[in-house]
Amino acid sequence: MTCFTYRNGQLYAEDVALQDVARAHGTPCYVYSRAALEANWRAFDQAFAGHDHLVCFAVKANSNLAVLNLLARLGSGFDVVSGGELERVLAAGGEARKVVFSGVGKREDEMQRALEVGILCFNVESEAELQRLNRVEGGMRRRAPVALRVNPDVDARTHPYISTGLSSSKFGIPIADAPRLYAEAKTMAHIEITGVDCHIGSQITEVGPFVDALNRVLDLVDELSKQGIVLRHIDTGGGLGIAYQGEQPPAPARYASALLELMQRRGQTLKLLIEPGRAIAGDAGALLTKVEYLKQTGARRFAVVDAAMNDLLRPALYDAYHAIQPVHQQRGATEVYEVVGPVCETSDFLGHERALYIAEGDLLAIMDAGAYGMSMASNYNTRARPAEVMVDGAKMHLVREREQISALFAAERLLL
Ligand code: LLP
Repeated sequence: MTCFTYRNGQLYAEDVALQDVARAHGTPCYVYSRAALEANWRAFDQAFAGHDHLVCFAVKANSNLAVLNLLARLGSGFDVVSGGELERVLAAGGEARKVVFSGVGKREDEMQRALEVGILCFNVESEAELQRLNRVEGGMRRRAPVALRVNPDVDARTHPYISTGLSSSKFGIPIADAPRLYAEAKTMAHIEITGVDCHIGSQITEVGPFVDALNRVLDLVDELSKQGIVLRHIDTGGGLGIAYQGEQPPAPARYASALLELMQRRGQTLKLLIEPGRAIAGDAGALLTKVEYLKQTGARRFAVVDAAMNDLLRPALYDAYHAIQPVHQQRGATEVYEVVGPVCETSDFLGHERALYIAEGDLLAIMDAGAYGMSMASNYNTRARPAEVMVDGAKMHLVREREQISALFAAERLLL
């Protein structure tokens, strides 16, 4: 659901004009819509309503405390991939018992902390990790709840950098090895087997790959139950795509019904966990930026804006497309621009060949930037990361201050 709409030629987030956000908090600035975030989360929750389930928001998509707090208040669970993300969830009021911990490289201290606070499940990605978790747990005298993340070897048909379900990827345990590892886990004193997990990739725009993956996971569940290994949940991961440029991804309801139909057909009633990130946060945020300069070199026109690849990395890293809209729509002959930032890299672009009618000082909104925007931002070129603002109806809340330049090097020391 989008909450960014034009009124009398001015772009609004809910009932707040983006030009007012820029006036109050400057640019570049991420702007989120509370209504969109909540509607997107509820769309998943309601789609699975007929079945025991937990929506675990993938924190990596947007880890701002205000975002996490709003979702926690709706009852959300969370998928974290580091000790840092776990601390954010706890600081935002999320419940540890609704947290799943994914990722191929969990450190011992991260495992210990997760055990101490009592998370719902570790999504274990290798035999070595399982053995380490069993040892770590030994010291803590509590059994670690575990799901093995299996790799179902399906092609998510998405960008290779965000495809994770093929047998060639670093993620998960080959599904054929899973029965042996589950049998091993069963003998471990400090491991409690609770589920099975998979995640095949991100920005997936059809249901087929999800259904294929779940089908293979259900075969495994059946095989395990024959071995006397009974699970409590199946985690199908995240990955549902959004429409950046006319894609037509299935709505959460369609995605859910495809999974639930398969569960029913296979006579399976296990609890379902899902880990959506992008489909909850993506279209709920935009990056507000100001045109600094217009320039022409040879045949190309450039709009140099005050946001850059350090603020929104997706175009530079994946050649990703984000719509770029003027905050104030004006009538006039458009020109075709390369929309670029001030960073000293040729890959520092936000959009190629965009038809815009703009002048220096105009504001632009880079759309669908609520997921993997601020969470992937860096300080490259010693640029302070943007402010973040949450709009709620007619109110705006500063949910993260713009970084101070002095803070960027405050932890650095000169040689004595
Ligand atoms: N669960 C696991 C284990 C994941 O690795 C991911 C994303 C998710 C859930 C959430 O996936 P989503 O529903 O957001 O597709 N930076 C890239 C996306 C990387 C996704 C990595 N894993 C981008 O900007 O497109």
